[in-house]
Amino acid sequence: MPLTFTLDPSVDRALRDGILDLWTEVTDAGGAVGFVAPAEREAVRAELVKHFVAMAEGRVRLLVGHDEDGRVAATAFLTFNTHRLMTHWLWLYTVMVHPRHQGKGYGRDLLTAAADAARGFDGIEAVRLTCRGGLGLERFYASCGYKEVGRVPGAIRVAPGDDRDDVVMLLPLI
Ligand SMILES: CC(C)(COP(=O)(O)OP(=O)(O)OC[C@H]1O[C@@H](n2cnc3c(N)ncnc32)[C@H](O)[C@@H]1OP(=O)(O)O)[C@@H](O)C(=O)NCCC(=O)NCCS
Repeated sequence: MPLTFTLDPSVDRALRDGILDLWTEVTDAGGAVGFVAPAEREAVRAELVKHFVAMAEGRVRLLVGHDEDGRVAATAFLTFNTHRLMTHWLWLYTVMVHPRHQGKGYGRDLLTAAADAARGFDGIEAVRLTCRGGLGLERFYASCGYKEVGRVPGAIRVAPGDDRDDVVMLLPLI
């Protein structure tokens, strides 16, 4: 069963707890979503609250995927630029699919839905994101149409002595 994607879902307790569970479980499974395992739930909660504040202020839009049991299974956050000369593209952050659902094509479905959402926003011509090197994620994003346009060597320190490249990927929409 494909996931059901919703742009701008209403934020209630089920959504909040569902994203929190997703984010911590993805991190604990080795996902590259801003933390390293083991995830500290309170630190993830604090980051999620920042996302909700940005959503309330209209700077961020949330795309969420639910599975057939109604559980939160995937997210992507679309973030507008505040710089006046960069309002024609947006950032995609916190792209994740629950470990139990990975490898079924849902990640690609999520990015298709994200690109469709971005196309629907006035004046948006491209989607940009960064990903952690060393995990093969460039291949995932390439399979969704993104091209690598930059790479900052060793910019992400996941552990002492383990620095990863910060890879910049871009999807033109026009
Ligand atoms: C990355 C992620 C979103 C991909 O979602 P998914 O549902 O597992 O991916 P899909 O099943 O849609 O795979 C689509 C394609 O990408 C490839 N792919 C997926 N994850 C990959 C990875 N980590 N490395 C290399 N290729 C990958 C698949 O093999 C598939 O290619 P194919 O069509 O040639 O078979 C998911 O694995 C995830 O949430 N990972 C943990 C969080 C994370 O690291 N997110 C990235 C933030 S930058």
